[in-house]
Amino acid sequence: VQSHPLAQGVTANTISLLLGHPDPSTLFTPEFQEAVQRVLTSPQPYQALQYGAEQGAPALIDYLVEKFNREQATSLSRDRVMAVAGSTHAVDMIARLYANAGEAVIVEAPSYVDALHVFRDHGVELYSAAIDEQGLVPEALEQILRRLHRDNRPPRFLYTIPNFHNPTGVTLSAARRVEILRLAQQYQLMVVEDDVYRDLAFDGPVPASLLALAGDVPVLHIGSFSKTLAPGLRLGWLIGSRESIQRFVQCGTTEMGGGASPFTAQIVAEYCHLGHWEAHIAHLCDLYRARRDMMLAALQQHMPDRVQWTKPAGGFFIWVTLPENVQARGVKAEALRRGVLVAAGEGYFVNPAEGEHNLRLTYSFAPPENIERGVRVLGEIIERQAKATHA
Ligand SMILES: Cc1ncc(COP(=O)(O)O)c(C=O)c1O
Repeated sequence: VQSHPLAQGVTANTISLLLGHPDPSTLFTPEFQEAVQRVLTSPQPYQALQYGAEQGAPALIDYLVEKFNREQATSLSRDRVMAVAGSTHAVDMIARLYANAGEAVIVEAPSYVDALHVFRDHGVELYSAAIDEQGLVPEALEQILRRLHRDNRPPRFLYTIPNFHNPTGVTLSAARRVEILRLAQQYQLMVVEDDVYRDLAFDGPVPASLLALAGDVPVLHIGSFSKTLAPGLRLGWLIGSRESIQRFVQCGTTEMGGGASPFTAQIVAEYCHLGHWEAHIAHLCDLYRARRDMMLAALQQHMPDRVQWTKPAGGFFIWVTLPENVQARGVKAEALRRGVLVAAGEGYFVNPAEGEHNLRLTYSFAPPENIERGVRVLGEIIERQAKATHA
């Protein structure tokens, strides 16, 4: 049997409930090819290959401003938006320009593993606040804020993923958004809102973004084309105050880099202005909603008692909580032997022990027939391990 690499480390013989990647079949569409062709056959195709504007390709910025204002009833001006080379690039710039090594940054427990990695690269001190089914818990945040202020270590910012959170899939409620902004106001806390899953809303729209609700609280809002178009483009955006965007646009790497990914930005701008992106997002929501439903049904059918899981209204992830006598690491290792890839919870926490009994499952990448099979294998493993340690 020939094994086709579907993504790094994944062959046709493995079931990946691990990767937070889009379904491979959604990436190379005729509409995207049309946009590439239009850029390559435009009157001055070399322009797309030259160093670009520091803020990002103007046609892309125009589109992003129009879409954000239309959807969120805001009136952002163009100078509040810039293109970035994927949202992780934005996280890295924010850490570099807004926090020094040894300073405090607050994240969620759990949080996106690569953002934690970036923050650690910058040597910041991480503190984490709990989340539950309604997202970040304001009381947990306030407790940390109080402690850090008492110790004269005001945190440089809060990093939060309000919609279809990675890794848990939960969404921050509207009431908590207001409460968290109130705390940010009170404690003069900058909020970094990583909103890369916002458009993948399966069950109706999500609440207004923290940026749209912010008033005069400083919020940096991050978006990406990775989950709703293609991660290989390495293209996203950053929205903030005029002053903060100016600071990012004028920093060394942006100035010398000639703006983020100018060539792909031209193609994506063309694709968006043709109306293809929003149509594609609607298609993705239908596709991933069916996958989500399939995974939830499989969990219901195959998981033993005492296993719990979140029920996301969008995005890519379900967060599973195992019985206390079952270690996620052991389940992951046994699943790997049986060809099923999953993530154990430890890596998502500042304090890894908090994730000992959690698994993150993704339904975005595996073909439908594999989702049911993968969950069935996990159910068998968990059941056996729960009984073995009980005995
Ligand atoms: C919360 C979150 N932010 C950012 C990213 C990465 O996005 P990008 O490809 O735009 O760097 C991911 C991908 O898994 C994510 O889950």
